[in-house]
Amino acid sequence: EWNQQRRPELLRLFETLVYGKVPEPPKPVRPTFQVRSEEKEALGGTAVRREITISFSEKPDGPRLDLLMYLPKVAGAARRVPAFLGLNFEGNHTIHSDPGIALARGWVPNNPDHGVTNHRASESTRGSSSSRWQVQRVLSRGYALVTAYYGDIDPDYDDGFQNGVQPLFYQPGQTRPAADEWGSIAAWAWGLSRALDALETVPEIDTRQVALLGHSRLGKTSLWAGATDPRFAIVIANESGCGGAALSKRNFGETVARINTSFPHWFCTNFHRYDGHEDRLAVDQHELIALIAPRPVLICSAAEDLWADPKGEFLAALAASPVYKLLGTDGLAVTAMPAPAPDQLVKSTIGYHIRPGKHDVTADDWNAF
Ligand code: GCU
Repeated sequence: EWNQQRRPELLRLFETLVYGKVPEPPKPVRPTFQVRSEEKEALGGTAVRREITISFSEKPDGPRLDLLMYLPKVAGAARRVPAFLGLNFEGNHTIHSDPGIALARGWVPNNPDHGVTNHRASESTRGSSSSRWQVQRVLSRGYALVTAYYGDIDPDYDDGFQNGVQPLFYQPGQTRPAADEWGSIAAWAWGLSRALDALETVPEIDTRQVALLGHSRLGKTSLWAGATDPRFAIVIANESGCGGAALSKRNFGETVARINTSFPHWFCTNFHRYDGHEDRLAVDQHELIALIAPRPVLICSAAEDLWADPKGEFLAALAASPVYKLLGTDGLAVTAMPAPAPDQLVKSTIGYHIRPGKHDVTADDWNAF
């Protein structure tokens, strides 16, 4: 019943009422992949750095996603390695100070602290978010690290869906997605699936062992990508909050009305019906987590990040547990919310981690990942 009936029903509800479905395009969208650069002796000779460009249309100025990957050097050429895949907030060049990473090519958020005021990436932000990406540590543990800038898929501001990938899917005369069609989160999630398609062409990576991770709005995105694409082996949502792991009906921290007002482009238009009316929603976010079952999922909170409602994130993980158990796993191994502490991971198929501190991705979080 779960596989044939309830799961498809829940998926359709999330698709049509929350994130929006990927529309049928008038002509097939067939992304192409091209290796843009390769450095076999990156990071002091410890890794291979490769960049692959995914072009979503034949038009040279059409949307494209620049993937950056670091591959560990492993003995035995035939061995494929597992990988972490995650979108980044300000461009691939911000995740590490490596001068060989190409700067983001499109619109980026301004970062006045680093001198970015015209929405163009610059050298001044190289490595600016490196504390959130433990590149060397990931590589030394034998994993590849793959990332891409989310704004390449759809720049994160409300322009009525004129830029990004959505216009490729418009029927003649259509100017914006229909009420049940995708907002930006669903577009970013679709882009992650295309990134996974591109990884299928990378001989060093085992695409059956890709852990998808995302922080905050990109944690919401990871959960939706994991729900819609069963190829992602593990899904990690860090402080994903409202529209991510946090239960909407608790009405705690960020509410549906708040998120739809601040970010009118993130969800589908139908979701705006629930502004101030969470009680009317046919689904809640524990059912999103359940859509990923029985694949491992890790929900991470930060104690001071009340905007993202840590308790709501924990309760959603707990309420997803019956589906995980139905499907033969251990679900979530605790029933009471753990006290925030570093390195205290609830290590079951639904994992849960809460650390002290604020909204961020830290070395502690990476210990859990
Ligand atoms: C805002 C937003 C959150 C989101 C966060 C982020 O705080 O209200 O929903 O998770 O930005 O992405 O950093």
